Amino acid sequence: MASAGLALRVVTEPMLARARTRDLPPNALSKDAIHIDANENPLGPCTSARAAAAAILPQGGRYSDWLTDDLVKTLAEMEGLKVEQVRVYPGSSEPLHHAVAAFTSGQRSYVTADPGYEAGMFAAKAIGAKVVKVALTKNHAHDVKAMLAAAPDAGLFYTCTPNNPTGTLTSHSDIEFLVDKKPQGSIVMVDEAYIHFCDAPSAIDLVKAGKDVIVLRTFSKIYGMAGLRCGVAFGRPDLLEKIENYAGWNAMPITALVAASASLKDAHLVPERKRANATVRGQVFAWLDRNGYSYIPSESNFFMLDTKHPAKPAIDAMAKQNVFIGRIWPVMPTYTRITIGTAPEMEQFQVAWQKVMSGAVTASVGAAPKVRTRKLDGIVVRA
Ligand SMILES: Cc1ncc(COP(=O)(O)O)c(C=O)c1O
Repeated sequence: MASAGLALRVVTEPMLARARTRDLPPNALSKDAIHIDANENPLGPCTSARAAAAAILPQGGRYSDWLTDDLVKTLAEMEGLKVEQVRVYPGSSEPLHHAVAAFTSGQRSYVTADPGYEAGMFAAKAIGAKVVKVALTKNHAHDVKAMLAAAPDAGLFYTCTPNNPTGTLTSHSDIEFLVDKKPQGSIVMVDEAYIHFCDAPSAIDLVKAGKDVIVLRTFSKIYGMAGLRCGVAFGRPDLLEKIENYAGWNAMPITALVAASASLKDAHLVPERKRANATVRGQVFAWLDRNGYSYIPSESNFFMLDTKHPAKPAIDAMAKQNVFIGRIWPVMPTYTRITIGTAPEMEQFQVAWQKVMSGAVTASVGAAPKVRTRKLDGIVVRA
């Protein structure tokens, strides 16, 4: 356990999304730049969350762990769980990585979709577990039967619905099937980072039913708190305990705790932001349809857009126009992931995209590195 802990490096969405900033011109970091590359929420925290975070600042000299208990209690009540089934962390990246460390090993594989959110894969590789990537179905759902068949030695099945990067859903019945048929001793992780943007049912009922399931949620997406850092793991107490062996207990940022609690109490936040995102997404899709561009219809705040060529030059040409999109998943080399920004941001995206696709703006050679990067398994990440 100790050596796995030492080897583990938490890889996050910004590390993946912003690694390319090194190849980009100085405008990348300017305030006029439009960043629709890391699935962030341009609205930021809601008004009551901002007020709560500002008001707690004078108490920033204290660990205030009772604020963690408050948030756990609120979450447990909202989801109909016991407090022992809920843990909060500074973002969901931590429980994701520590669960991989707890449930995979040299003998127990990590099974994930391809394309899928890459972070857990890095953790698995770091601890010496085999990574089994399984193609999505033709509807871009997790192919749960193929996942089961591919890894009889699985330790952790990572599922993400809506899936990052495709924004597509895997049905609750498929998740249940996976849970029923998985090898003994393994767990199914259901990453619900983007669940609030769609109408799909959560897998929390499987946690309630005492199954070998861990559900992850984050305040980084619909709640607009990526920079404040708050995430949640729901699971059976013995499973959470195993994760905790790798994480220990660490104090949460108190600004994140009170902002998260305030966000949960705002009954309008989720429905309003979900509607706003769906409206802008619908407008973008209608525009893409009118102009003959292909994309994968998504239920989330991002989607995959086909450049019809290796996607890197299009990403760089967009950056030249101050619109930062990306990244590319090797299994879909002509596609790039676009986050849904505000309506004005997406209008700017459309203008820039039209120029790139018509050849009016092309990529240029990148400028000097702007951020430190390193390579993990051949993939450049922000260091
Ligand atoms: C699918 C998925 N899971 C987890 C995370 C981690 O988010 P955070 O650590 O900000 O909670 C992300 C971030 O983009 C994500 O896309």
